[in-house]
Amino acid sequence: MAPKTTADVGGMGHSIRRKEDPRLIRGQGNFVDDITLPGMLYMDIVRTPYAHAKITAINSEEALKIPGVLAVITGADLAKYNLHWMPTLMSDTQMVLPTEKVMYQSQEVAAVIATSRYVAADGVEAVSVDYEPLPVIVDPFKALEPGAQVLRTDKKDKKDNHIFHWEAGDRAGTEKALKEAEVVVSQDLYLPRIHVASIETCGCIADFDKVRGKLTVYMTTQAPHAIRTVFALVAGHVGLSEERIRIVSPDIGGGFGGKVPVYPGYVIAVAASVLIGKPVKWIEDRMENLQADSFARDYHIKAELGAKKDGRMTALRIKTLADHGYADAAANPSKFPAGLFSICTGSYDMPHAFVEVDGAYTNKPPGGVAYRCSFRVTEAVHAIERMTDRLAQELKMDPAELRLKNFIPADKFPYHSALGWEYDSGNYQAALRKAMDKIGYQALRKEQVEKRKRGELMGIGISSFTEIVGAGPSKHFDILGIKMFDSAEIRIHPTGKATARFGTKSQGQGHETTYAQIVAEELGIPAKDVEVEEGDTDTAPYGLGTYASRSTPTAGAAGAMAARKIREKAKKIAAHLLEVSEEDLVWEPGKFSVKGAPQKSKTIQEITFAAYTNHPQGMEAGLEAVSYYDPPNLTFPFGSYICVVDIDRGTGEVKIRRFVAVDDCGNIINPMIVEGQIHGGLTMGMAPALLEEISYDEGGNMQGGSFMDYLVPTAVETPKWETDKTVTPSPHHPLGAKGVGESATVGAPPAIVNAVVDALAHLGVRHIDIPMTPEKVWRILKEKGVAE
Ligand code: CDP
Repeated sequence: MAPKTTADVGGMGHSIRRKEDPRLIRGQGNFVDDITLPGMLYMDIVRTPYAHAKITAINSEEALKIPGVLAVITGADLAKYNLHWMPTLMSDTQMVLPTEKVMYQSQEVAAVIATSRYVAADGVEAVSVDYEPLPVIVDPFKALEPGAQVLRTDKKDKKDNHIFHWEAGDRAGTEKALKEAEVVVSQDLYLPRIHVASIETCGCIADFDKVRGKLTVYMTTQAPHAIRTVFALVAGHVGLSEERIRIVSPDIGGGFGGKVPVYPGYVIAVAASVLIGKPVKWIEDRMENLQADSFARDYHIKAELGAKKDGRMTALRIKTLADHGYADAAANPSKFPAGLFSICTGSYDMPHAFVEVDGAYTNKPPGGVAYRCSFRVTEAVHAIERMTDRLAQELKMDPAELRLKNFIPADKFPYHSALGWEYDSGNYQAALRKAMDKIGYQALRKEQVEKRKRGELMGIGISSFTEIVGAGPSKHFDILGIKMFDSAEIRIHPTGKATARFGTKSQGQGHETTYAQIVAEELGIPAKDVEVEEGDTDTAPYGLGTYASRSTPTAGAAGAMAARKIREKAKKIAAHLLEVSEEDLVWEPGKFSVKGAPQKSKTIQEITFAAYTNHPQGMEAGLEAVSYYDPPNLTFPFGSYICVVDIDRGTGEVKIRRFVAVDDCGNIINPMIVEGQIHGGLTMGMAPALLEEISYDEGGNMQGGSFMDYLVPTAVETPKWETDKTVTPSPHHPLGAKGVGESATVGAPPAIVNAVVDALAHLGVRHIDIPMTPEKVWRILKEKGVAE
């Protein structure tokens, strides 16, 4: 679709350069750690080496002797104000600082406040803590065994380690369909713990102004308003009410879901600032970030897929055990403890499905946030895309042919899935066919046959995923009872320039540019003249924040709706200026003109000036509008990815030779930004497929707690991504747009696994759990007798 606006205006469809980049690429960004306030103190945290232990004593005397150490804060100190526990976003509870026992390795035990970061670290070294180790549970299956030690002894009535049971679909109908299926494949899959490992770690500066009784917190948060509400809930009883709390989220160096939760460090810094009366800065180091912040995945999945012999899928059943660590600190909507996992029927017209998830407590860090957020969509897509390939292998069918046979037909949208979703729009056949053409699928299959004859290991993997993004609608989605909508407020100034504020918060996605493009699209005001602001709760309208690719479907839509309200008023002013009735006016981007007399027109800038200087009598001056947008449905972006791998028989190394990604996120605001989102997402999808894993030994000791062991991809491992698109607009979004931020992270891992399994299928390999490290793959080659 050709853009409606000129390149100078830069509305939708223009690849205008990112407005934020000159600042960010010149090192002139303003991140939390760039902020220094007068008299600011520094905080560092004492952490436990034990995964489960009673605390018998905390000795602070030596630390307090160090010049510059001002205070050591313990759980007992916070308990005096009832601040030692806090609610999680999933309505569970989590310690701020412990008073009795620690529940996972690297948990916060005490905080040292000092005049410099270095002195604070010296203070941490000098605090000695006496522990009495307790038995550790790291395996969620063992945690749920009858008679297992109960971990959450703080919950008086808790008699086991079970957190929740959640299910969707038709249990009996699916059971029957699986019994009647001509072929059933089943597979256990494990998606291990991984970490978002954003470039910037978490941190804050808490600044309590005793005179005004106002708390300002500069912090790394993806959801400033929600955090303000949580702070008011936690600390309302000590006088911190919501209007006296200001959260400022400045530039953020990557969030990916990891900056949604409230971490104990934030709350301790706030308590310290209130108690001491000075600003307190807390910035995690890399190892604290990896070891103690919220993690993703840790899903043990058992999947069964039934079909007819001709490949027609008939039923899907999935049972999952989710390891949430010692507290359920995920950031899912309240009614969805397993997020949107029930998108697991994927792109297929599946008559019967049933899915159930149980959550368990273990001695691991709390969480369950998703990597590139996604509300467990990544896990769902992994399961269905792996099972589709398992079925293709079983039936000796080509995996592309099997997919094309089972896709929801393009004319069946809106489509009601067996698990309760209404897919808004899609054309899955078109995306897969485009990817197949682009990569030369049939020629690759021929090449594979030849290579196999020569003993070479080459595989082709497909993933045709369906995403689900943009929570609300508020009817179904809330976090801690706060309905999930999002907001925009646009003010047009007399000279025709605009300020637009949103309830979301960019962490690198380019909102300053794309939101300005939305205003440009709707009002014809050039995007360069639209200043976008987010992240300051004193100025931005209330919103639920940015995660799970919800910004475009929610706040982006709010931006369009607010701009349309402004256009309505602008029309009245134009009619007044041109002395015609409103019905006689036609709009084209940037101006209203008189029907049949196009030379009689008023530009948006002329109209704006008149809104302050010459508006009709009886009309309020000014030109501004707010929209709180409650989406009628989620948006369902999709794509088809095809990956070609070669496996080194000497080392087991998987080399991605080609990777074609065809994405569909409906109408695109900025094609260059979308391509960037997909490149980043593909790299973040490749990472868990091949490299990343956090595991624990029996004692609860973390393996992978530093970048020596936790392998994030660098340019060296990253292949050249080949991207393309189809465009299937969302019928309910005002701009026809769907979210895209996390699509590639969701879609990429199964394409890579499917390619590796495809390379080894003739040896009898049916499944490999991620990460497919060289060692893991080499062991398989050795077992199959093909290692060199
Ligand atoms: O919530 P988050 O910003 O992470 O995800 P998103 O809504 O998918 O948007 C990611 C970036 O891609 C934003 O800058 C969007 O404006 C842009 N985008 C776009 O240009 N066109 C779309 N159809 C979807 C997103």
